[in-house]
Amino acid sequence: MKIYVDSADISEIESALALGLCDGVTTNPTLIAKTGKSMEQAIKDICSIVDGPVHAEVLSLDEEGIFKEGLELSRISDNIVVKIPMCHDGLKATKRFSEEGIDTNVTLIFSASQAILAAKAGASNVCPFVGRLDDISVTGTDLIDEIVSIFDNYPEIDTKIIVASVRSPMHVIDSALIGADIFTIPGKVLTQMEKHPLTDAGIAKFLEDAKKFT
Ligand code: G3P
Repeated sequence: MKIYVDSADISEIESALALGLCDGVTTNPTLIAKTGKSMEQAIKDICSIVDGPVHAEVLSLDEEGIFKEGLELSRISDNIVVKIPMCHDGLKATKRFSEEGIDTNVTLIFSASQAILAAKAGASNVCPFVGRLDDISVTGTDLIDEIVSIFDNYPEIDTKIIVASVRSPMHVIDSALIGADIFTIPGKVLTQMEKHPLTDAGIAKFLEDAKKFT
């Protein structure tokens, strides 16, 4: 199991690193915008502290633009994975990156058919968004179940499934039960995963009872 941090916030990433909970980092334009930095600077800063894969997303939607932008991003650091929005030209660019040996992540996956196409185009990773499916009353983790089952049927597919748009610990638990490869988790959800009210109550009781020691 691998856990990535879904963030461009350096302090959030450092907190996860300190707990051994950062096998990699995924970013997107929304997360980069929150840092107030340029894309290049934000990615450089993350790569300066993270050894694992750092996923940086292209903005172009045409094959040439995606390819050019992806190459520029991949030159920032050896551990860059080029994140490409799921679209027709994105698949064409994914195939070219695959031929060049550059790792990719086809993102904004909302159906198993999209995941199949991305895998066949040679994507190193696909990013199904569970939370955004839940937002429209579709059970997001059902999609994880479908993609895991399909990829398991075809051992030649080595595309990894990164569960994204994780909004709660249940998304992680359900996807782990299904057997997804990677979870990319925001700092807030990592913190929620630590907590249990019975743990807090148990600690309080032990400390109270410890006052009775002779
Ligand atoms: O990894 C994708 C993620 O950042 C999107 O999350 O909560 O905006 O759907 P969300």
